[in-house]
Amino acid sequence: MDNLKWVLVLHLFFLLVKIQRGSCSDSFSLHQVSQQDLDRVLRLPGQDFNVSFAHFSGYVTVNEVSERALFYWFMEAVHHPSSKPLILWLNGGPGCSSIAYGEAEEIGPFHIKPDGKTLYPNPYSWNKVANILFLDSPVGVGFSYSNTSSDLLNNGDKRTTEDSLVFLLKWFERFPQYEGRDFYLIGESYAGHYVPQLAQAIVRYNRAKREKSINIKGYMVGNALTDDFNDHLGVFQFMWSAGLISDETYKLLNAFCDFQSFIHTSKQCENILERASDELGNIDPYSIFTPSCTGNVSSSNRLLKRLLRVGHVSEKYDPCTEKHSVVYFNRPEVQKALHVLAPTKWETCSEEINSNWKDSPSSVLDIYHELIHSGLRIWIFSGDTDAIIPVTSTRYDIDALKLPTVSPWRAWYDDGQVGGWTQQYEGLTFVTVRGAGHEVPLHKPKQALTLVKAFLSGNSMPTLQELRNS
Ligand SMILES: *[C@@H]1O[C@H](CO)[C@@H](O)[C@H](O)[C@H]1NC(C)=O
Ligand SMILES: *[C@@H]1O[C@H](CO)[C@@H](O)[C@H](O)[C@H]1NC(C)=O
Ligand SMILES: *[C@@H]1O[C@H](CO)[C@@H](O)[C@H](O)[C@H]1NC(C)=O
Repeated sequence: MDNLKWVLVLHLFFLLVKIQRGSCSDSFSLHQVSQQDLDRVLRLPGQDFNVSFAHFSGYVTVNEVSERALFYWFMEAVHHPSSKPLILWLNGGPGCSSIAYGEAEEIGPFHIKPDGKTLYPNPYSWNKVANILFLDSPVGVGFSYSNTSSDLLNNGDKRTTEDSLVFLLKWFERFPQYEGRDFYLIGESYAGHYVPQLAQAIVRYNRAKREKSINIKGYMVGNALTDDFNDHLGVFQFMWSAGLISDETYKLLNAFCDFQSFIHTSKQCENILERASDELGNIDPYSIFTPSCTGNVSSSNRLLKRLLRVGHVSEKYDPCTEKHSVVYFNRPEVQKALHVLAPTKWETCSEEINSNWKDSPSSVLDIYHELIHSGLRIWIFSGDTDAIIPVTSTRYDIDALKLPTVSPWRAWYDDGQVGGWTQQYEGLTFVTVRGAGHEVPLHKPKQALTLVKAFLSGNSMPTLQELRNS
């Protein structure tokens, strides 16, 4: 019976699309509805404004045997999508949804009001400058799923990369008009692993195939986990110098945690991290100078829960935005509008995925060495009030690459004010964003848009002079 209804609905939908298509003169066949058409999102619940761009969401099967499918939400650029580059955006965790963070509170066009029902347009959405593809990765995150339940207990960096590559190849088949388009990977936090790993997989795939079916031009990561040793050094130093922890705890952290994995930490180190967490008190470690959410926030521990035990403290700026998205994306009519398969309990971050994470190499610096020589544009940015992967960690990471400087340290400007600092190395550009926390586009949306514009254009960050001249 259910099946019959489904067929009927589908049939009606086909008819409708055919009728709509009849009046427009694009290159699609009038007689055939593509999966791309079926993925088109027409209007979202709680959307009381019109948008001029098309957007699409749905699943791409990445493994037929265990029936793994990744969920995406794709926003075309506001103007002239056919002449704009394509960006894949990834959040980290591991276990956090790119739709929860990237779309709904950072760079996406649809943000959610505190009622959890109504949307508002983000004036600094990155689809002003590019086509943006949000991917919930790996399976078990957001709306992505596997029909083999053991898959959720066996996620790790390697399979995440493999599945993401399969996703991209199949996504380009579904959206052939984007094949060959200038393509960039951008992500933050634990995506400091995903992004270079996926970039490497794409570069190697293209090399093996002797073609550039995925026309990758570069990648950018922010507050990115990169190298466990250097990231640990930097985070402990940051917490100590910002006055968040005691001298004694600082010494103990350096003695027992410096050489630990971020993801798989020893008991001894965990105990000291717990102590550090107690000393921090109820601040938001993702943005140490902004208020924390004092409402009833579910423990979200988006990143590195073992570090800082953030499960107990990790409310952050709106400061309660993730709470709103939990309400919104669990609404059945929202899930229906986004083509979510069955009613699904949706979480911003999955504790199950995070705590069962398997392989996580202690460093991705070797990938930087490989990719810098492949000619990709590589940028690293850092919100400098984040205590999770702070600017000190990132500076130690970059220092470890031992790259010659091309253009020395200087301030960059936004509206006549220092937006942050930048330094250009051979093969890599570093940009800090002043006063931004872990999620740079959440805290400094305007500066973040300036950043992505500079990155896409390949220009350096604006100087004071350029601002005066423009
Ligand atoms: C959105 O577009 C529809 C159809 O063109 C129009 O009727 C409606 O008034 C518009 N809504 C807003 C808020 O502009
Ligand atoms: C997972 O199982 C459901 C229910 O049987 C099915 O509809 C869906 O297509 C399966 N997913 C994949 C990726 O095969
Ligand atoms: C806070 O959360 C608890 C447990 O989930 C719930 O019982 C309570 O009603 C919530 N309070 C508010 C003010 O939302």
